[in-house]
Amino acid sequence: MDARQMKIKAAEAALEYVENGMRLGIGTGSTAEEFVRLLAEKVASGFKITGVPTSERTARLCLELGVPLKSLDELPELDLTIDGADELDEKLRLIKGGGGALLREKIVASASARMIVIADESKVVDVLGAFKLPIEVNPFGQVATRLAIEKVAARLGLTGDIVVRAAGDGPFMTDGGHLILDASFGRIPDAEALAAELNAIPGVVEHGLFIGMASMAVIAGPQGARKLT
Ligand code: 5RP
Repeated sequence: MDARQMKIKAAEAALEYVENGMRLGIGTGSTAEEFVRLLAEKVASGFKITGVPTSERTARLCLELGVPLKSLDELPELDLTIDGADELDEKLRLIKGGGGALLREKIVASASARMIVIADESKVVDVLGAFKLPIEVNPFGQVATRLAIEKVAARLGLTGDIVVRAAGDGPFMTDGGHLILDASFGRIPDAEALAAELNAIPGVVEHGLFIGMASMAVIAGPQGARKLT
């Protein structure tokens, strides 16, 4: 089974948790896009859901494939969000934001009664941090914000480069008009402490640590899909 087939397997398994009439948060990334394609097939056969996309990119794909959408302001309480992740551990702590949509992803997941993560086995780690931690920051004072992040990280014994994510000739801009700093901390033994410290820095809009948000993950491997709860 190649990487794409595993993403499809995870998406298929998660689709079983989507019920007719649900208000559904729809994630961002290549795994979430496989989910959107399968969801669109169900919608075409008469299944009724209303989706709230976590990015402009996901919104475009949903519209192209005929998945009905509303904004989160129109539908502020959701039944379920299905989204990918860059890393997850056995306690369902996640790193997200590789696709740059972490702020909307976190807002949508927080507005949902449940969040199911779809991923392949390569994303499961013992300790978070091999993937660079995305931190969304306001462009105003970004250098001061980066210094503040370095200081709190050092207090927690975390070092490593923190760089502004690039796109083409300039910086990557999120859907909300912010920058992403990618922090190469390596292993993050106390993700809760780091999350709390980052939340307290004014220039940090949001960070990619999703803790206590996912209720289940569907992990696809060569032998099929397994559930992590
Ligand atoms: C986007 C995300 C994605 O869910 C994450 O990057 C996983 O993407 P993929 O399924 O392409 O590996 O957090 O902000």
